Amino acid sequence: MRYGHFDDERKEYVITTPKTPYPWINYLGSERFFGLISHQAGGYCFYRDARLRRILRFRYNNVPTDVGGRYFYVRETNGEVWCPSFAPVKTELDSFECRHGLGYTRITGKRRGLSVELLAFVPHGVDAEVHQVTLKNESDKPREVTLFSLLEFCLWNAHEDQTNFQRNLSTGEVEIDGSTIYHKHEYRERRNHYAFYTVNQKVAGFDSDRESFLGLYNGFHEPQVVKAGKSSNSVASGWSPIASQSLDVKLAPGESKTLVFLLGYIENPKEEKWEKPGVINKTRAKALMAQFSTAEQVQAAFEKLQAQWSGLLSSYKLTSSDEKLNRMVNVWNPYQCMVTFNMSRSASYFESGIGRGMGFRDSNQDLLGFVHLVPERARERIIDIASTQFPDGSAYHQYQPLTKRGNNDVGSGFNDDPLWLILGTAAYIKETGDFGILDEEVPFDNDEKNKASLFEHLKRSFYHVMENLGPHGLPLIGRADWNDCLNLNCFSETPDESYQTTGNRVGRTAESIFIAGMFVHIGPEYAALAERRGLKEEAQKARELVKKMSDTVLEHGWDGEWYLRAYDFFGKKVGSKECEDGQIFIEPQGYCSMAGIGLESGHVKKALDSVKARLDTKYGIVLQQPAYKEYHLELGEISSYPPGYKENAGIFCHNNPWVIIGETLLGRGEQAFEYYKKIAPAYLEEISDVHRTEPYVYSQMIAGKDAVRHGEAKNSWLTGTAAWNFVAVSQHLLGVKPEWDGLSVRPCIGKDVADFTIERRCRGATYKIRVKNQGRGGKITLKVNGKAIDGNIVPYAAAGSTVDVECEA
Ligand code: GLC
Ligand code: GLC
Repeated sequence: MRYGHFDDERKEYVITTPKTPYPWINYLGSERFFGLISHQAGGYCFYRDARLRRILRFRYNNVPTDVGGRYFYVRETNGEVWCPSFAPVKTELDSFECRHGLGYTRITGKRRGLSVELLAFVPHGVDAEVHQVTLKNESDKPREVTLFSLLEFCLWNAHEDQTNFQRNLSTGEVEIDGSTIYHKHEYRERRNHYAFYTVNQKVAGFDSDRESFLGLYNGFHEPQVVKAGKSSNSVASGWSPIASQSLDVKLAPGESKTLVFLLGYIENPKEEKWEKPGVINKTRAKALMAQFSTAEQVQAAFEKLQAQWSGLLSSYKLTSSDEKLNRMVNVWNPYQCMVTFNMSRSASYFESGIGRGMGFRDSNQDLLGFVHLVPERARERIIDIASTQFPDGSAYHQYQPLTKRGNNDVGSGFNDDPLWLILGTAAYIKETGDFGILDEEVPFDNDEKNKASLFEHLKRSFYHVMENLGPHGLPLIGRADWNDCLNLNCFSETPDESYQTTGNRVGRTAESIFIAGMFVHIGPEYAALAERRGLKEEAQKARELVKKMSDTVLEHGWDGEWYLRAYDFFGKKVGSKECEDGQIFIEPQGYCSMAGIGLESGHVKKALDSVKARLDTKYGIVLQQPAYKEYHLELGEISSYPPGYKENAGIFCHNNPWVIIGETLLGRGEQAFEYYKKIAPAYLEEISDVHRTEPYVYSQMIAGKDAVRHGEAKNSWLTGTAAWNFVAVSQHLLGVKPEWDGLSVRPCIGKDVADFTIERRCRGATYKIRVKNQGRGGKITLKVNGKAIDGNIVPYAAAGSTVDVECEA
């Protein structure tokens, strides 16, 4: 069942009922000011850091789920109240539509001939959200209504805001100035930032105190002020500051009126904080308001935003006969990659923005799907991430985007982390040719006194694995590897401690075949970089170590039909036919296949056949089988989940693309594409009632076959699935991948997708690639500008030039 449809022309998903199976959200902003907005106008926004600079309040795990956001109440002269976003009042509408587009959301509700549209977006380069409200009288009678706005401020620190009430309820402060409400909580002391909400017209009244607006015993759906039809002009003092304006709107038949509301964030230099004692300096705020005081200005900013997105998306353009594939590749997958790059795993409808900052491993992987969009930002991110690495090559698992400092509560010890830095950096250099980044001086643990070149950081990442090998010569897992829930050194027996960070036993036995696969896959990138820096011996040495690791995997990491997962603390196998549960895991099958460990000797084929036989389901490939039925002290969090959910045999979408890529290495394009279609959201639109999350973005997990709700997705938006599926589809299925000296062209997608073309911009040149697709399993012939070439690398052309590529595949 569907709840809307794609509008490919406008690059929008159009939701046609407020009653979707879950709140379907969008993100506004892609630089510093970010907003989350649901199809019912719920959500919140923040400046740079969802925890430390939260602007609007949002209550997670609320009842109902999606309450609080940017609300507009329409009060009719007869006392009736409704909202164009349906929520929170829930008066039935004659029609409802929400269009989630690239960086904006447009919600339109109609009732009895009055149409009210909210357009919300964050203009490019601006620290503010525009809420443009257009009321249109589509009837033949004059109409008079009062419009009330409402949003609720968060007291900046989102964690404090939800916990420290003995303080919070006394600290809220506002200033009112004409149509503008300024929120200045803690501005009198250490903060030099405030927020404001304004509208470009004279208001009939305002409210800034929540209780005065709603009534103490009322919810957002029944504000007493709206009911009465008149603002109370309340001035908040402590308790909960809000911003609400009211405007009387009179519309002749056919007439429409547009109001521009603006929610802005301002930082003042310390010495310019005050206009006079106790009165905030509003100069910057007023300058910002002047930029958005007319509908024309809003329109111009909106067009700029759209132009910006068309520019971004033009670096990879597919034209094929499969409209769902086009949608994923051209619009929604790169769009999600932008969001995961910006947010890491911090703020979504499933991530509170409080718990986690930027992940070391996550952010490096997010780069893979983002680097072609804005390479300069990827560069900056790489430096930020590397700055949280320790001198021994290990790394903080997470860091806070505002301070860029590692989080001490989680610390380090996730032994896969360091290698991802090599992968992210290599992808950046392949995309840009910017080898100079390797010479950047980057601190360790943010200590300016202890710096080394980025190349040295990568070297320490590489050798961190070598210095931490276990009894079989395989990498030690530490607290966990990619699978955060495989905690082989933790042995947590009490519920009041973390699975990852408590009770790490001093032991150097638990080993990860997954990290071994990573080492073999990523190690050659390090060797290639060393070689290009003239370090021939180092490159040679690295290649030997990689070869040795590959041999070790085949010797100690092979279970007969598939790759093992790990050795536990006691040296017992994990992910083996000898185990009762958890006999086969997807991660090493995918990663060791991508690394080509045993490709010639048939191991890869065997492993992927085992995946097909044992892990594949109707809705995607599950993480392992059989699911753990009970808690295993020696395995940790993985066995804590009920069978079929999350890491315990859920369909963890992040690692499905590794198998897809592995299949393309074998030349099995049909199989690869079939796996792709099982989890790519555009192909799941028809089963939205089962899948439940947004049909335009990936979710982290879909419940596996052991789960009661097989096929139901959770944790949409913020997942490494976005980046990896973009890599899988753009670089392996469609087969266009930047390499060191040219674009590699090797499509392998099976016969189902007829001939297609790809326009790829890379290093300033444009490659027009026409593929005659007969599904030859990765066997291709190429012509570049009319001339046949050997192999599959199209050499990089000068910036500004256009290269014509014909490919038979
Ligand atoms: C989550 C984490 C990611 C981890 C994965 C598997 O998605 O963000 O870092 O690799 O879970 O545990
Ligand atoms: C990963 C897992 C999640 C786990 C978390 C612990 O994100 O997906 O299940 O709770 O790591 O840090």
